[in-house]
Amino acid sequence: MKKLIPVFLAAVAALAQAPKPEATKPEVLAPYFPTPLTVVEQMLDLAKLKPGERIFDLGSGDGRIIFMAAQRFRADAVGVELDTDLVASSQAKIRQLGLTQSARIILGDILTQDYSSADVVAIYLLPDSLVKVRPILEKQLKKGTRVVAHDFGIAGWVPTKTVTIPDDGEGRSHTLMLYIR
Ligand SMILES: C[S@@+](CC[C@H](N)C(=O)[O-])C[C@H]1O[C@@H](n2cnc3c(N)ncnc32)[C@H](O)[C@@H]1O
Repeated sequence: MKKLIPVFLAAVAALAQAPKPEATKPEVLAPYFPTPLTVVEQMLDLAKLKPGERIFDLGSGDGRIIFMAAQRFRADAVGVELDTDLVASSQAKIRQLGLTQSARIILGDILTQDYSSADVVAIYLLPDSLVKVRPILEKQLKKGTRVVAHDFGIAGWVPTKTVTIPDDGEGRSHTLMLYIR
């Protein structure tokens, strides 16, 4: 037994020095491409976001959907974002705007969160990514949750309403799709 102790200690030391397996990095489901503020407002209007309701923005970017949801719509707003710089700057802005009671950003992967408390979900992701997000939402969302998608719809879901926002000089139009689960 005594002979085994140094062997064990050597093994522990070797393990401590061994290169750590890289933590699984989240898959990038869309590049950072912010929704214009006028369109953000229309997304939240389309979803009929009410005071006190919980909204998630899946890939919250600079946090603009979260700020407007918490500030103007008085919702309980949660963003999920993998980019550490965007998370840090949006968390700083939440503090600056005095929204710490009603807005927060989770540094994490869209595909590993719990959305069961959502009343509204906002999404601006690429079509192939929406295919991956869809089963998670189908499994977790409570009945009646509104999902508002910008530009790319969720294949296989039928929108309750589709709104086209004409180009207002920015060089492109926008499409919003509302789904009610
Ligand atoms: C098209 S931008 C939309 C930003 C914001 N929702 C808006 O509409 O202005 C997509 C965002 O999703 C983030 N993202 C992509 N894949 C992600 C993942 N797996 N987990 C968390 N965030 C992710 C990107 O870093 C980016 O900020």
